[in-house]
Amino acid sequence: MSLYTAHQSKMIGSIDRAVTGLGEIHPLNNSYYAQCLEIFEANSDQRPGLLGWFEANVVSKMSQDANTILSVGCGTGAFDERILGYARARMNQVRYLGIEPNEISAAEFLQAMGSQRCDQVDVSVLVQRFGEQTFENEFDLILFVQSIYYLEDRNDAIDAAMRALKPGGELIIVIAPDEELNTIANLMWQRQMEQKSWFSDNVRAHFDARGLDYEETRVNANLNVNECFGESTEEGRNIVDFIVQTRADQLPTGLRNDISEFLMSISEEQGTTTCLPHPVDIFRCKKG
Ligand SMILES: C[S@@+](CC[C@H](N)C(=O)[O-])C[C@H]1O[C@@H](n2cnc3c(N)ncnc32)[C@H](O)[C@@H]1O
Repeated sequence: MSLYTAHQSKMIGSIDRAVTGLGEIHPLNNSYYAQCLEIFEANSDQRPGLLGWFEANVVSKMSQDANTILSVGCGTGAFDERILGYARARMNQVRYLGIEPNEISAAEFLQAMGSQRCDQVDVSVLVQRFGEQTFENEFDLILFVQSIYYLEDRNDAIDAAMRALKPGGELIIVIAPDEELNTIANLMWQRQMEQKSWFSDNVRAHFDARGLDYEETRVNANLNVNECFGESTEEGRNIVDFIVQTRADQLPTGLRNDISEFLMSISEEQGTTTCLPHPVDIFRCKKG
C-alpha cells in the first residue's frame, strides 16, 4: 500500500519534475550545514530517543575494560559527546575517533568531546572522508549515525567498516527509512550526488547480500515544524533547508510553494505543535 494519497503522489511527481528542470542544486555549505543540523536536531525528539536506546542496549553491554570507538560522519559531536559520557561512566579506558570531512564540524567535535579528555579518555578526529584511510581489526564499536547517505560508495563503506572491527566488535548504522520526511531530500540528493540515495532498505539488502546476521530496531520520533511555514523564523528556515538539503530560498517560488504544501500535507497536529514524523532505523551487526 502506498504511503501517500493520490494528491501527495501527484505533488511528489511535480516536485520531482521541477527539480529535474533545475540547473545545479547546491548542497548546504559547511558552516550553514552544521548550523542547520543542530537546529533541526534540537527540534526533534529523535536524538534523545536514539541516545536512550544506545545507552541501554549498546554501551551498557560493552566490556568495562578498554574500548575503541569510531564514529563515521561524527559532525559536531553533539551525539558522540553523550555516547562518550555513557562510555566513560562504564569503561576503564576509551579511545574515541571521529571521521568528518566538514572541517568546521570536526573542530566543534574536538571541542565538544575535548572537555571529557583525561587519562581514561583519548579523543581524536580525522578531517577526511571515510575510506581515505583503511583500518583492520581496530574498533570495538563503529557508528554511522545519520551519515551513510553522504558516502559515495555505501556498499564499500560497510565492507570497510566490517574489516575495521575487531572480532566480536559491532557495527551500528542509524539511517532513515525512505518515508515522508525524506522524500524531498531524496530528490535533491539524487541530483547532487548523481546516484540513488540510500535508506533502510538498502542497508538491509547489503547485509542480506553479504549473508551477515543483523538486528534492526525502529525509533519513532517527531520533528517540531511550528516555525517552518507561513511567517517562518530563521530557525524555521534552517529546519526547512535541512529537510530539503539545499537553500529553499534559492529555489523557484513555485517549487518552494509545492515543497511547503507537501510538507504541510504530511504534518500532524499534536496539541499546539505541528509535527512531521521523523522515524529512524538502527541496524546492528556483530563481526564473528
Ligand atoms: C546528518 S550529519 C550526522 C552527524 C552526527 N553523526 C549526528 O548524528 O549528529 C552527517 C555527517 O556526515 C558527514 N559526511 C559527509 N560525507 C562524509 C564522508 N564521505 N565520510 C564521512 N562523513 C561524511 C557530514 O559532513 C555530516 O557531518
